[in-house]
Amino acid sequence: MTPLEPVSLQTETLILRLLDEADLPAVYDIFSHPEVMRYWSYPPWTDRSQAQQWLIDVQEGYRTGDALQLGIERNADHVLVGTCTLFQFHVASRRAEIGYALGRPYWGSGYMHQALQALLRYAFQTLDLNRLEADIDPRNIASAKTLERLGFQKEGHLRERWIVNDEVSDTWLYGLLRREWQERSSVG
Ligand SMILES: CC(C)(COP(=O)(O)OP(=O)(O)OC[C@H]1O[C@@H](n2cnc3c(N)ncnc32)[C@H](O)[C@@H]1OP(=O)(O)O)[C@@H](O)C(=O)NCCC(=O)NCCS
Repeated sequence: MTPLEPVSLQTETLILRLLDEADLPAVYDIFSHPEVMRYWSYPPWTDRSQAQQWLIDVQEGYRTGDALQLGIERNADHVLVGTCTLFQFHVASRRAEIGYALGRPYWGSGYMHQALQALLRYAFQTLDLNRLEADIDPRNIASAKTLERLGFQKEGHLRERWIVNDEVSDTWLYGLLRREWQERSSVG
């Protein structure tokens, strides 16, 4: 893909923006937390060097346009509360996947719903995507409810799709079409 334009998305209380070196301590807190990583595609980080390598990959994604991982910053105090991502772009099919993680102290705040509303708007309006997908562990109820509240539909159950630390898990695949999102947006 071609490089993505610099992105900064504003919501009522948050800003979604590119990540840099200064974010690494907050990012490490998020991705080293066992509860946050319980249903993730890799185990919790145990060493700060993993955050450094991760940032190299994230910034490579900005450069190539293959992935867009944004920090979710709270306007009031500039705390980085989480991240959300567009990745697995399929340009011809105008489709991508979303991923998201909120730091443990910020669960239950409504931040991710607000952040993903902005990310969906960016994906469907600015990037002109036609379809978004999400791959979640069926045991991850908070994630399933987050997607369903945004209008995603559960489209499939993929068996034994992941093995993380010897634990085998299934996938629920969710999808949201641009026209469905438009209908919901016009209703309010
Ligand atoms: C997924 C995530 C972003 C959701 O954000 P959150 O702030 O925790 O979500 P909420 O508190 O708004 O919960 C969403 C819903 O799930 C419900 N819920 C949350 N945890 C639950 C649980 N353990 N059992 C049953 N319901 C639960 C909430 O009551 C809420 O229901 P409602 O919409 O009917 O009010 C956050 O939990 C997270 O970052 N988890 C770790 C990373 C992760 O798993 N990311 C997704 C990978 S695909």
